[in-house]
Amino acid sequence: MTVKYRRELDAISAYVPGKPIDAVKRELGLERVIKLASNENPFGFSDSVRAAVMQALDEVNLYPDGNATLLKEKIAEKYGIKPDMVLPTCGSDEMVDLIAKTFIDPGSEVVMAEVTFPRYLSTSQMMGANLKIVPMKNMAYDLEGFRRAITPQTRLVWLCNPNNPTGSFFTRDELIRLLESISPETLVVYDEAYFEFATHPEYPRDSLDLLQRHRNMLVMKTLSKAYGIAGLRIGFTIGDSALLGMINKIRNPFNVTLLTQAAAMAALDDDEFLVKTIENNERGKVYLYAQFEDMGLNFVKTEANHIAFDAGKDGEVVFQELLRKGVIIRPIGGTKYDTWLRVSIGKMEENQAFIKALREVL
Ligand SMILES: Cc1ncc(COP(=O)(O)O)c(C=O)c1O
Repeated sequence: MTVKYRRELDAISAYVPGKPIDAVKRELGLERVIKLASNENPFGFSDSVRAAVMQALDEVNLYPDGNATLLKEKIAEKYGIKPDMVLPTCGSDEMVDLIAKTFIDPGSEVVMAEVTFPRYLSTSQMMGANLKIVPMKNMAYDLEGFRRAITPQTRLVWLCNPNNPTGSFFTRDELIRLLESISPETLVVYDEAYFEFATHPEYPRDSLDLLQRHRNMLVMKTLSKAYGIAGLRIGFTIGDSALLGMINKIRNPFNVTLLTQAAAMAALDDDEFLVKTIENNERGKVYLYAQFEDMGLNFVKTEANHIAFDAGKDGEVVFQELLRKGVIIRPIGGTKYDTWLRVSIGKMEENQAFIKALREVL
């Protein structure tokens, strides 16, 4: 390449999304394909979202409200906070990128887990961070390891709870102990993309209350998972208005589309859809745990809508063989975890089809 570019790019791998259903059907000549690869909602989305989008369609000649005023107000009301503590983005993906750009200088110390959401790594690398990677402990975050890795010089800490792709979680006590050990000058990014699925009594349900004592923390949420509107791209972050104000300076002014703002407001109102989604997830967990146990496979108990399991043979091969049977899941990858894969919890018939295919493959 003769054109000059940022050398940081040399260390970065492009994000590999879960394979789309149509592509697999076409490539492999299959009629029925199920996708349990991207932690999407198996029930689709709330009916009220459809109505809201149809109504908003009449206005797509207009730019969206760049301040997402009504959406911020809706979120603020739902979570009992002020609207200036909310910043919606084009998925929480966009927020990960904006946070890295806003807070990381070349050489800034950034601490993150070894197996977690991959965009923390690539966005930090892009900004030239000095990365400290904390190894997993039994496929879960090791918060003691984080405490040892974090110094007063640490600029930013990425936390994901429940974690993607392991589904593991850390407790409220562990989180508080960690927050109390961190300098107020260090930014803590706390990603709760899978918050709604967590049922463990020790999972921190009151992260937003912790913001009062820890103004250096940002809480990221998304409507892509439990709320089922991944295709519309909407996440939002809650935290100190001054921190969000800095990020807001570099946000694309119309980052959340008009259709998406309308859809998000409708989705946030539909508690019934959320309950149905979570109940299905719980049933799926029970079924998949029992099946993995029966097959003698090691797996991680999940607080999210996906389960990490050890197939005991090359994960890439298992992934490819499942594809040929019309089931898309995801290898976790990396040399240490090359026999591990992640499967999203689907509807019961999808879970059963996955298990049938997995039994045949193994
Ligand atoms: C932990 C975590 N954070 C953020 C995201 C990004 O979600 P979205 O950009 O769809 O809001 C994902 C998506 O898989 C995720 O797993």
